[in-house]
Amino acid sequence: MPVLSGSSGRELAHSLSKILGMKSIQIESRKFPDGEGYVRVPSDSFDEIRSESVILVSNTFPDSGIMRTILMLEAINDIRRGDLENYKNEGVQVAGDVGPGVFLAVPYYGYARQDKRFSPGETISARVISEILGRSCDGMVILDLHEPRVLESSSFPIHFVSSMPEIAQRLKEEVDPDFILSPDKGAIDRASEVASIGGWEFSYLEKTRIDAHTIEHQAKDLNVKGKVVAIVDDMISTGGTICRASDALRRQGATAVYAACTHGLFTGGALSRLANHVDGVYTTDSLKNPRAVVSSAPALARGLREMLD
Ligand code: R5P
Repeated sequence: MPVLSGSSGRELAHSLSKILGMKSIQIESRKFPDGEGYVRVPSDSFDEIRSESVILVSNTFPDSGIMRTILMLEAINDIRRGDLENYKNEGVQVAGDVGPGVFLAVPYYGYARQDKRFSPGETISARVISEILGRSCDGMVILDLHEPRVLESSSFPIHFVSSMPEIAQRLKEEVDPDFILSPDKGAIDRASEVASIGGWEFSYLEKTRIDAHTIEHQAKDLNVKGKVVAIVDDMISTGGTICRASDALRRQGATAVYAACTHGLFTGGALSRLANHVDGVYTTDSLKNPRAVVSSAPALARGLREMLD
């Protein structure tokens, strides 16, 4: 079963194919001068793509990533349907339909945070994206989705996986914290999983988001005096959540504070801001960033095996 990937996520797809013992195939992908995307599946991989099920590794981020994912899925589907007719008349033009068998592995699922209609007139963007992708694939594996419940009633199989075991392992090797903190209620399941794998103490904060850049943490007594703490979340964007949580921890006597998450977006100078508040940052490679030191391939491999079994 080949593992295909476009321009983003190539290294991750390669690691995934090695874990699964499958071949890795690169789809040509580039941009036209006006920014529109172009993809092309190499002709010498058509036989493999038609002879067994395939996995495509692709992020739905940034917006161009959504478009690229759709184009790659459709190019793969054309090949599997035998719809090969082309203007240059190269190769076989028509072949039989080999049926379903296209699976999408999404390391970072963009638009995950619009998981509710918070105000009238909004749409539930996380669901919109899955409905579009579901038209072109037979199943999807998503890594550490912000709120899996939003996709639970999807019309096609979606499997949710987590990198928390690998994050816990990395923290054990490099930090060996005394205490794990979830910066809000939404990250409790993830952070407490890390705490229980490492055998560390655990607590959480209550966070109120004022706007995209401003958050407030409710005061809470934490037993962190003289302790090394790791804050664990699904993603870091502006870094505001982590910086405020770190300030609360230091005020209560934590001696060192680290941050760990699956998805390191690091928007608007987040890494410099974080450098003033935490002693280190660890993320997976679901998104390319300078702190991506944990491979997300093992988690995606677990999800794909479960889905395909
Ligand atoms: C929100 O609930 C998420 O789990 C993260 O806590 C949030 O997206 C982080 O954003 P920022 O880094 O901008 O505070």
